[in-house]
Amino acid sequence: MTYPYQIKTLEDYNRQYKESIENPEKFWANVADNFTWQKKWDKVLDWNFKEPNVKWFSGGKLNITENCLDRHLAKNGDTPAILWESNNPKEQSRKITYKELHFKVVQFANVLKNNGIKKGDRVCIYMGMIPELAIATLSCARIGAVHSVIFGGFSAQAIADRLLDAKSEFIITCDGAFRGAKDIPLKSVIDDALVGNKTIKSVIVYERTQTPVSMIKGRDVWWEDEIKKVEASGNPDCPAEIMDAEDVLFILYTSGSTGKPKGVVHTIAGYMVWTNYTFVNVFQYQPGQIHFCTADVGWITGHSYIIYGPLSAGATSLMFEGVPTYPDAGRLWDIVDKFKVDILYTAPTAIRSLMGCGEEFHKNKNLSSLKVLGSVGEPINEEAWHWFDKNIGKEKCPIVDTWWQTENGGIMISNIAGVTPGIPSYATLPLPGVQPCLVDEMGKEIKGNNVNGNLCIKAPWPGIIRTTYGDHERCRQTYFSAYPDKYFTGDGCLRDEKGNYRITGRVDDVLNVSGHRIGTAEVENAINMHTGVIESAVVGYPHDVKGQGIYAYVIFDENHPNANLSKQDILQTVTRVIGAIAKPDKIQFVPGLPKTRSGKIMRRILRKIAEGETSNLGDTSTLLDPSIVTLIIEGKV
Ligand code: WT7
Repeated sequence: MTYPYQIKTLEDYNRQYKESIENPEKFWANVADNFTWQKKWDKVLDWNFKEPNVKWFSGGKLNITENCLDRHLAKNGDTPAILWESNNPKEQSRKITYKELHFKVVQFANVLKNNGIKKGDRVCIYMGMIPELAIATLSCARIGAVHSVIFGGFSAQAIADRLLDAKSEFIITCDGAFRGAKDIPLKSVIDDALVGNKTIKSVIVYERTQTPVSMIKGRDVWWEDEIKKVEASGNPDCPAEIMDAEDVLFILYTSGSTGKPKGVVHTIAGYMVWTNYTFVNVFQYQPGQIHFCTADVGWITGHSYIIYGPLSAGATSLMFEGVPTYPDAGRLWDIVDKFKVDILYTAPTAIRSLMGCGEEFHKNKNLSSLKVLGSVGEPINEEAWHWFDKNIGKEKCPIVDTWWQTENGGIMISNIAGVTPGIPSYATLPLPGVQPCLVDEMGKEIKGNNVNGNLCIKAPWPGIIRTTYGDHERCRQTYFSAYPDKYFTGDGCLRDEKGNYRITGRVDDVLNVSGHRIGTAEVENAINMHTGVIESAVVGYPHDVKGQGIYAYVIFDENHPNANLSKQDILQTVTRVIGAIAKPDKIQFVPGLPKTRSGKIMRRILRKIAEGETSNLGDTSTLLDPSIVTLIIEGKV
């Protein structure tokens, strides 16, 4: 594969950036011309941010799997598409070439059809990090079904909510997943989610862990059995469904400042072009290289930079089932050494956790294959940046600090490896097609350099969110109403004297815990479900490894027995309602919460206390009962 749109020099970057802003339609038509279309588009871009209504390549017909699979077969059929490393270092790794992946996707697409799944149906996927997860998503795309991957750490309740919201009738799962020292009983969690459910028509189960499961008659089927039926039918082909450019590719749920997660909707053509373009450019991918993204496919990073970006570029994508610290903190470096990884894309939280484990885990590993390092998910602090640069990149690999969001589809602001300079803790410059701007509280654009503000984007890029599933008004309200005619990111940001962007963190009630987005309202709702809880308020506080930790202030019913036991109960409740990822790190029982006279909780004060501040709490005179603040400080955990 060649990538004629790959930026090679600083001049290229400047030229492409300029073109993409001055004439976006021409610019993106040129990029899109490099893909396989069943019919070219009639119009490159149609948009307004009022409704919002954004359409890229409308009138175009395509199937993303022809771009991720079929088009590579002639020249690169024997190139590995997916390399897979088990959670267990002793288990054989797997190599799946483009030919093999194509075969498996087509085969499983037929399984989906045989189970009654049709174009437009929503299919929830709840699996561990195995190649079959990629096969499941691509098979949905093959027949035009909409996938909604749910991260393996979410609880039965969280799954039930998502199934309902997506009006999904189909599930693909595993008996279980291996993750570090733990086995996660995925099917059993699904069974809990489906108690009383009458709408789910079929559950396809892949056997991974040999965990005993209960298969429900008329509903649950084994992946392997279904494959055998397809084999026996003697019809192995499954032509790619002809899809509209703006048909939905997937839904992915993400948290916001309200209690209910939103189903972010991405559509086929724009998402494909955006993930491919950003993959090829930011990481400077060269054919033959091995790209290792450590994210889970349950999050957008895995969708875009394990599956769609790399595969649409004919790249080799390395998928890892386990976690960086199991069986020891040298696991990632062993994998880099074993597969001769060229590009390593990971998260600051992983870097920080490995940084504290000592030199012996990376010292004797051969990391000389590495050419590019990447970071995503949260601001990377300078200490972690330098550790990564020195110990892993040996001061020879550019580090790309990639800022983007689930709603963006792909990378938005980042340096381009070896082409534009990296600056520790800065995402640096917007990619072509991205027009960032900073606005003040009143919504007025802050021009010039050396300024701070709320980060917005002025015009659509191909990977922009199209809607929130089933509730377009919510999409408008959340992203397009705070500042008219702009997409609001929810992040605060600094633009330095040279125009480089530095993300300073969320300005809304959203936490970033180990690179995962968690809404404070969601955690509060979960805590409040506990019978002993009268009211709660959740804030973030700086955490050495996770970036942010979760601090919960809870007004607890005095008549409830045993406070310690109750804290455990509250953690259990949150684990049940959302999943272990949302468990508070600290719980403090408080006699009351600092509220204004109108009853609004003053989180600013709670945040400061959680951060360890005891004096400078700002103005507390508007509080209904200022003395509550002293009591909270005294009881801090
Ligand atoms: C939020 C989006 C998109 C990948 C994974 C997270 C924060 C993401 C960076 C970065 C500073 C970052 C922002 C953003 N974030 N990347 N390089 N530097 N902050 O996706 O769950 O949609 O969260 O993650 O706060 O808004 P997400």
